[in-house]
Amino acid sequence: MKILLTGGAGYIGSHTCVELLDQGYEVVIADNFDNSSKKVLDRIKKITGKNVILYEIDVKDKMDVDKLFDEQKIEAVIHFAGFKAVGESCAFPVKYYRNNVDTTLTLLESMKEHNVNNFVFSSSATVYGIPESVPLQEWMKPGCINPYGRTKYVNELILKDAADADENLSVVLLRYFNPIGAHKSGLIGESPSGIPNNLMPYITQVAVGKLEQLGIFGDDYETRDGTGVRDYIHVVDLAKGHLKAIEYALSHKGCELFNLGTGTGYSVLDIVKAFEKANDIKIPYTIKPRRAGDIAEFYADPKKANKELNWHTENTLEDMCRDSWNWQKKNPNGYE
Ligand code: UD1
Repeated sequence: MKILLTGGAGYIGSHTCVELLDQGYEVVIADNFDNSSKKVLDRIKKITGKNVILYEIDVKDKMDVDKLFDEQKIEAVIHFAGFKAVGESCAFPVKYYRNNVDTTLTLLESMKEHNVNNFVFSSSATVYGIPESVPLQEWMKPGCINPYGRTKYVNELILKDAADADENLSVVLLRYFNPIGAHKSGLIGESPSGIPNNLMPYITQVAVGKLEQLGIFGDDYETRDGTGVRDYIHVVDLAKGHLKAIEYALSHKGCELFNLGTGTGYSVLDIVKAFEKANDIKIPYTIKPRRAGDIAEFYADPKKANKELNWHTENTLEDMCRDSWNWQKKNPNGYE
């Protein structure tokens, strides 16, 4: 069975690609390498011994997407491609809506014309916005607080409407919590451009000596140690969730939404300590003011995905810390 991954060379896309290949699926990647590297493809080959079919295209381009569906017999699409920097989305909202919404519309049109009926969407827990309570459950009201989050939510609405109107279409919306870690081989991982915004890449770059010290954004939140609490999930567990989502889409019509998180919240200080312990490296840090837009505590209730997708996370926080470091120390400059 052939699966199309848009943005398949990215962090989550590449890990999902490896899991799909390992399970015997064929994979076609559509990527314009806007925020990813072509080297990923050699690494995927090294890990799996298998080739993927690459279309170096922009998924907004209907003619190119039509050509792909004409040439490849695709059974399901996992749509990862998209811009994802929160700060940039505030400065350039139109660019974000244009890219993140047009890609979905183009895919939906072309899929319908080619009778491709299974769509898995890479959404984000950021759609929940500022939670009234935790853990977050799928029925809770969305309240995105930045344009990036709103592009994800708009996509969810479009996909839900499309599934409601087309009895052949299956849509699975996946809201990811905070993916960290890397494939055990250390051959693929997260390779942010410039100074990382996210916590784990920042820590690994301090560990490798590229950055001097971590700044912890606030220690006066209403959490057990005052630092922000998040639901960190190993990217390989997250990737495996996509295989379950494909299976679900193939056997259910309509649109369904699932959280992909572990259900456990860890604070920034928990992460720093776990990283130090797992890897025997000291991470110097200072406390800085809160970062605008951050919230105190944010973690999933993953029960719906546990039950209906039969998906469970396997990796511990120690695994996440060890694998993040294994990737960074083998690739101090990412894929550069
Ligand atoms: C961020 C994005 C979110 C996106 C997610 C992807 C924001 C506001 N939110 O979520 O939309 O889906 O990444 O993984 O950008 N921290 C530090 N020092 C740092 C970096 C982070 O103390 O240098 C803290 C943060 O304050 C937070 C925690 O670490 O408490 C996690 O931060 P981060 O990795 O950026 O993830 P989110 O903010 O949860």
